[in-house]
Amino acid sequence: MQEVEIPRQLQFGSLRIQPAVVLAPMAGVTDTVFRRFIRHLSGCGLIMTEFTSSHGIVANHASASPKARRTPFNYLYYEPDEHPIVAQLFGADPNVLADAARVVEDLGFDGVDMNFGCPVKKVVKCNGGSGLLRDLPAVEQILKTIRSAVKIPFTCKFRTGWDDRSIVVAQMGRIAEDCGLQGVSLHGRTRQQGYAGKSNWDRIAELKQAVRIPVVGNGDVFSPEDCVRMFRHTGCDGVMIGRAASSNPWIFQQIQQYLETGSYDQPSERQRCQLLRDYYRTLLEDSGKISGSPLGKMKQFATYFTRGMANGAQLRKSVHRSASTEQVLDCVETHFREHVAMAA
Ligand SMILES: Cc1cc2nc3c(=O)[nH]c(=O)nc-3n(C[C@H](O)[C@H](O)[C@H](O)COP(=O)(O)O)c2cc1C
Repeated sequence: MQEVEIPRQLQFGSLRIQPAVVLAPMAGVTDTVFRRFIRHLSGCGLIMTEFTSSHGIVANHASASPKARRTPFNYLYYEPDEHPIVAQLFGADPNVLADAARVVEDLGFDGVDMNFGCPVKKVVKCNGGSGLLRDLPAVEQILKTIRSAVKIPFTCKFRTGWDDRSIVVAQMGRIAEDCGLQGVSLHGRTRQQGYAGKSNWDRIAELKQAVRIPVVGNGDVFSPEDCVRMFRHTGCDGVMIGRAASSNPWIFQQIQQYLETGSYDQPSERQRCQLLRDYYRTLLEDSGKISGSPLGKMKQFATYFTRGMANGAQLRKSVHRSASTEQVLDCVETHFREHVAMAA
């Protein structure tokens, strides 16, 4: 295999992303609290919001008072220390999407991204997400309309096609480029695959060959070694990481360390537990800035953050049995006392 130099930065138009590693948008996961943890752990060049309904944004904006308009509804809430940050939209109506993109621009986001990857039935049924991969003229219309509505960098994220018989990687890339987008991200699975099988990195390499705008590769990067393999295998300009970040938020910093030194540290038990504690405290302080119940989020993140933790299964169980947020905090304090402080 030809030796490929690992890019140190990625550029979406005027937006410089350094390092060239991106946090994937994840509905129910990448809210402002989680994103700020990722930002402060360092090593992540760009963070993205959860995908957000263009209809929801427009309806919310139309009904809000002028003052409230400057305070985005939860999915678009972000804090100044999250920059650079891109908001991701979904929908199928070009004019509504363009209006939503204007709201995103007015809110000060560094870029806007269009979702052509979501496989969820509810979204696909309304022709959104990966449903649009079956209608490339509609994709073109959407991209043109959004592009002419805003000045901020505009990108899109897609899957390889609806199914194995309808791969549209190169076509999607060329449409995006011809419509004036500043970059594309590809998750190397079809819609039909869901999360089964593997992300096909050959498709990412194919996209890179098909376009001149930057290509971000995505799918199945679970370690710094995987990240380097993806850069080398595909020649991509950036790598996007989703699920691995939710179970190992240190992955971005580990990648940076690996690229600089050839090795990387694993978080200690104390750091792991401290992260969970801090996350829960911030979640409670900032519960008004996110969607969903704090208790539900605490249980969800107990599943992610206790992976690989000593006695993690026990902690996970006790968090899941908790009936209140106070009880969850007690579980973590007990765990800290019994398994972390004692071991120090
Ligand atoms: C819980 C969850 C929510 C997701 N939500 C979104 C989303 O809102 N927008 C999007 O483009 N992709 C979404 N994805 C897909 C990821 O961005 C990413 O493409 C996929 O997980 C593959 O990358 P990975 O192997 O690094 O996880 C989601 C994935 C997960 C697991």
